Amino acid sequence: MKILRFFAALLLLSICIPAFAGEIIPQPKRYEKKSGSFTILTSTKIAHSPALRPLADYLAEYLPLATLEQSNGGEGNILLSVNENLGKEAYTLEVTAKGILIEGGSEAGVFYGIETLLQMLPAKVYTRQAELPFVVCACKVEDEPHFSYRGFMLDVSRTWIDAEGVKEFIENLAHHKINKLHIHLTDDEGWRIEIKSHPELTEVGGYRGVGSPVAGRYGRWQEHYGGYYTQEQMREIIEFAALRNVEIIPEIDLPGHSHNLARVRPDVLCNFTPDMEASLGYDTRSALCVSKEENYKFLEEVFSELAELFPSKYIHIGGDEVVTSQWKSCPDCQALSKAHNMQSGAELQEYFMNRLSKYIVSLGKKPCVWNEAINAGTLTKEAVVYGWESVDACRKATREGYATIVMPGHYFYFDMRQSAREPGHNWAAIFDASKVLSFDLEEQGFTSDEMKNVAGIQASFFSELYISHLEDSSDYLQYQTYPRICSLSEVAWCGKGGEWDEFNGRLINAHYDRMLAMGIDFRLALPTVKYADGVLTATTADRTDIYYSIVGEEGEHKYTAPIKTDKPARYLFHSRRGGACSGNIAVEGYYTTLKPAVKITSSIEESKRNPYSNAEGYSKQARTARTCKDGDWILYTFEEPVVCRRLEIPTGYAHLPRLLFNAGYIEVSYDGENFERVGDLKLGAGVIDAPKKAIKAVRIVCTESGNGAEDVIVRAPNIYPVL
Ligand code: ACM
Ligand code: ZN
Repeated sequence: MKILRFFAALLLLSICIPAFAGEIIPQPKRYEKKSGSFTILTSTKIAHSPALRPLADYLAEYLPLATLEQSNGGEGNILLSVNENLGKEAYTLEVTAKGILIEGGSEAGVFYGIETLLQMLPAKVYTRQAELPFVVCACKVEDEPHFSYRGFMLDVSRTWIDAEGVKEFIENLAHHKINKLHIHLTDDEGWRIEIKSHPELTEVGGYRGVGSPVAGRYGRWQEHYGGYYTQEQMREIIEFAALRNVEIIPEIDLPGHSHNLARVRPDVLCNFTPDMEASLGYDTRSALCVSKEENYKFLEEVFSELAELFPSKYIHIGGDEVVTSQWKSCPDCQALSKAHNMQSGAELQEYFMNRLSKYIVSLGKKPCVWNEAINAGTLTKEAVVYGWESVDACRKATREGYATIVMPGHYFYFDMRQSAREPGHNWAAIFDASKVLSFDLEEQGFTSDEMKNVAGIQASFFSELYISHLEDSSDYLQYQTYPRICSLSEVAWCGKGGEWDEFNGRLINAHYDRMLAMGIDFRLALPTVKYADGVLTATTADRTDIYYSIVGEEGEHKYTAPIKTDKPARYLFHSRRGGACSGNIAVEGYYTTLKPAVKITSSIEESKRNPYSNAEGYSKQARTARTCKDGDWILYTFEEPVVCRRLEIPTGYAHLPRLLFNAGYIEVSYDGENFERVGDLKLGAGVIDAPKKAIKAVRIVCTESGNGAEDVIVRAPNIYPVL
């Protein structure tokens, strides 16, 4: 039977199907198809020089072959070797009838040759369970990256991602030839790397919410939420990444985004007592005092450990979004400012960044900063600038002579939504993989001089919203990042992306299956839904299956033909393939909301600037004048009872679970006098689904004092009509 299957496979595969250059992501620089093929049999060996043993073992994880230490692979084998005439990350891959030869300029190049070879094999290799033989078309590939820095930034502070999760993420980055993982280890919500000289930073600051001086934020308020990497675990991550040519760049975000640190070590804060009445005595400050010598001593202790732990030459010290107003209230920062004739908060920030940078340089490393850190014009040119705010911010950094990592948020922040009604932020832009692919330095206006200082391209995932999606069936991190990382890979490796249709063809024809085999629950584009002449149709451009559900009915159906209906808004569609799925989409009527006259009252006094009438008008935000206490309520009374299919009362920002009732419940009243409790708040929102009668009033009640902030955002109700 086995023999029969073997010959059947040989026969089928001798017609050479895979291995067209057009199906590889990122696209190799040169690909030449030759006639003939090579068959990888169970007897084929992975031959390698002694130093390449780890990479031979790596390949053998995917291709179940024996490895063989020798410099000449002989016939019938896959030979890995280093050819120092090639660039460090360059490689050649030659498939002939006699065997496969991968030569790299260094281990990195060999690794990329292996990755390209894997893409020439059936997608199932990525499951590590594919069965031989495989036929590979004869070809010659000559390839090297355009940018030597091809990065991704992962925020593990807002949402904790454990060591295994990070390794999994690195593994898939490496399959896409991304070679830097910038790991955002600290922020206002958590400190994630063990510092042996200051164990409290993780033992206390690695957690937030219940039992921690750090307030809960973004979800899971009822938990002592968090985690951290021990230095030992981080060493394992670094080693795991290094084999895959991924360098780990640590970031400690300073001097702002340090609320967490300040809760653990209040002594780092400025010398004044803030007004904490509105926040129930909770200190919300987030910036380190610039004038305290003890702060520099403390940070030197932190960075000396990090410099030893991380082999990367880069250490990121933050510098973004600093609330410099805190320094205005500090007599010591003001005295320092005066003594150095500084005119602004930006100059004080650069004083801080320069002192820290000098220390980082003394450790033999390069300090990296977010682009705001050069606003005052005094930062050392030793710094590497990460341009996130805009293309202009990136260009300015290059013009001023800084090595610059280009990552403007409206192209490269993969925590942004991929279309208007999908999850994610929208403050930078709403965009999908096609926009990422279109990024082109020249089209963005970079001059050739500016381009000389572009050190690389990076994308990022800030994880404020991830925590509230951890229970989703689809992995939110993977949904937000793939296939956008595929586009990043193409842009960073090739220098710019090509036509979307051609690239998307490669995705659909070959790479979808690879990503599924890699275990990536990637995002599929939304189906297109149309309604005309009483008929509802749904289509996808990527040949995936479409499913639908009907509002108010149980179950899901496979869409196989247009649907005749006079109620198109009741149908909700999505597409799915393995673990990959699209968001839900319906005709516009499904999203229509009602705006009945409503009066909002509360046990909490309203903000003078943003009164409750803002939310009554359904257009603007309202805010309370203080944070919430256990027992506080917000009441929505409708002028006329409201008939609807669903009513939601949200609190907090629209797409960011902050400034809300962390815990509480929702009550409904059909007569305006008697209330019944109908559910708990989830992420600050109460929901009434399929109410039995017309609703006269709704009340949300808070059951937890404080939300880590100074106020609560009060929002208009979302009311959906019966369909
Ligand atoms: C950033 O997004 N604040 C770097
Ligand atoms: Zn100060």
